Amino acid sequence: TWTATNIIEDQVAAIRDQVGDKQVICGLSGGVDSAVAAALVHRAIGDQLTCVFVDHGLLRAGEAEQVEKDYVAATGIRLKVVDASDVFLGHLAGVTDPEQKRKIIGREFIRTFEAAARELDAERHIEFLVQGTLYPDVVESGGGTGTANIKSHHNVGGLPDDLQFALIEPLRTLFKDEVRALGAELGLPEEIVQRHPFPGPGLAIRIIGAVDRERLDVLRAADLIAREELTAAGLDRDVWQFPVVLLADVRSVGVQGDGRTYGHPVVLRPVSSEDAMTADWSRLPYDVIAKISTRITNEVREVNRVVLDVTSKPPGTIEWE
Ligand code: XMP
Repeated sequence: TWTATNIIEDQVAAIRDQVGDKQVICGLSGGVDSAVAAALVHRAIGDQLTCVFVDHGLLRAGEAEQVEKDYVAATGIRLKVVDASDVFLGHLAGVTDPEQKRKIIGREFIRTFEAAARELDAERHIEFLVQGTLYPDVVESGGGTGTANIKSHHNVGGLPDDLQFALIEPLRTLFKDEVRALGAELGLPEEIVQRHPFPGPGLAIRIIGAVDRERLDVLRAADLIAREELTAAGLDRDVWQFPVVLLADVRSVGVQGDGRTYGHPVVLRPVSSEDAMTADWSRLPYDVIAKISTRITNEVREVNRVVLDVTSKPPGTIEWE
């Protein structure tokens, strides 16, 4: 029978078997999957595991800190943090094309991770790489379901020949809700276990237009308000994901006090879904949407208009880019 405890026991035994006394590396993204995969491997082999967290500067408010502090405190995992935000933002400067953004971020991510892996490998020879691949990922990439080519998803793959690791993928047979149950059982913080999916390219694909620090700060502020109000309304689990999108190249006229404003719109994109392959826009209560809208336009100076995306997937994708 399926219980989180059974799965953990089985996986711990399997991982110990596979790894023996060898060294293992895992890239943490800030998301649920890699967090649970690493915690599981850590349960099995303790300090033979080292995690690497590449901070690309495109995360939401508080997320990097959560990995660096709360996650490490909860697990005792050895973590190497690489702050690469200057490099990522440097390469992204002036880039507006969604696929180009994705390619740059994917490429820089691999480069950065690779450099960290090499350093670590020189210290202690690494033989295994943990990946938080879930069952739907396996199906989507191998099954030719037709969605794989719509956007170039980024993940840690394609390492060079002289840096080959055998893969450990302890979540390969599991769905998201099962992974969350496992994470809770492993003692991970609620905020990490219940976190909504978040794309590898981060906020870069939620800024329509070029990405820079200022725009990221605007989007972070708006996004944080949306998340706070969703949580305050007790609706976190009713929503699959709640992207907030900054239309950075669009301006519209508004009025505040007795002054004219000429600011940017943000789009609220709450969606309901089982597996992200299809989705519907979430019918959030109007009072929650109203509160979010009022707070964003009051508290985020650069934003003077909030709009709601009422498109299902298909035809819209969940992310705007
Ligand atoms: P779309 O926008 O294609 O997104 O409907 C489907 C799901 O995938 C997430 N997403 C990504 N996840 N790397 C990821 O790890 C990516 O490059 C990426 N792009 C989209 C998206 O947030 C949604 O959950």
